[in-house]
Order: sequence, then C-alpha cells, then structure tokens
Amino acid sequence: MRIHPMLTLLAAGALFASTAQAYDADWKRGRVYYRSVCTSCHVASPIGQINPSAKTKAEWTAYLQADKHAKGKESVKQYVSKEYRAKIKGSNKAAEKFADVPDQELMEDIKVFLLRSAKDGESPASCS
Ligand code: HEC
Repeated sequence: MRIHPMLTLLAAGALFASTAQAYDADWKRGRVYYRSVCTSCHVASPIGQINPSAKTKAEWTAYLQADKHAKGKESVKQYVSKEYRAKIKGSNKAAEKFADVPDQELMEDIKVFLLRSAKDGESPASCS
C-alpha cells in the first residue's frame, strides 16, 4: 500500500510537535527542591515538616492545581519561580543549583516527586 506523502508529512509534524512539548519531569530534582526549599521553610516557620505522604495523589494534584499556598494567602508557584530562587540562592544550595531551570519544568519535577511520594504513590515518602 502506498501512503500519501501528505500524510507522512502530517505524521512527522505531529511527532515533532509532541516531542517539542513533552517535558520528561525529573522527580529527583523535584525531591531535592522540595526538601531543600519547601521543607526548610516549613521547619523554620514553626509548622514543621509537611510530608508528601500526608496527601494522596488526588489531593496533591488538586492542591497544585488550585495553587493556593498557606491557606490561600499566596501561590505555591511563587516559591518555585526563578525570582524566588534568585532571592534565596545566597543561602540555599538547591536554589543556587537550579537557578536557571524554567519555572514550569521545576514545577513539573516537584509535582512528579509529590505524586510518587504520596500516600497512595509508588514510593510514599516523608520529607527527610
Ligand atoms: C517562605 C516559607 C515557605 C516556603 C518557601 C514554602 N512554604 Fe509551604 N508553608 C509555609 C507556611 C508558613 C505554611 C503554613 C501556613 C498556615 O498554616 O497558615 C505552609 C503550608 C504549606 C502546605 C499546607 C497547606 C497550606 O497551603 O496551608 C503545603 C502543602 C505547602 N506549604 C507546600 C509547599 C511547597 C510545595 C513549597 C515549595 C514549592 C512550599 N510550601 C514552600 C511556608 C513556606
């Protein structure tokens, strides 16, 4: 059977578009960031550790989707932003190391880490 050349082109285009968009999240980088940036602040502000395994995958997904941190006073995203990393990188190694990672990629990394470490995730985890 002969395939119409236009279809081949379309298929190649679709493949290219999907590879250009898909970002393969790095849960290990998410873990480092969560532990070094999120957890260190939680421990310092006297609320203590917030273990990833304290929430289910669905709860984490909803939490990140809503993007309301500290009972809605602010967003979660701001603590992942380049701006925030730049602000704390003098005293935070992870923020310094990941200073140039695009916000969305780092957010994905954290999300993937939280989901895999959730109560019902493949590897439930505490902060430390
Ligand atoms: C500057 C300090 C600080 C940083 C950085 C920080 N948090 Fe928080 N976080 C808090 C405080 C304070 C609370 C408690 C707010 C309250 O109970 O009123 C909190 C609460 C939470 C909660 C409990 C639910 C809620 O929102 O009240 C979750 C989940 C959470 N943080 C996730 C994160 C994640 C994920 C990050 C990193 C991307 C992060 N936090 C970074 C200070 C911080």
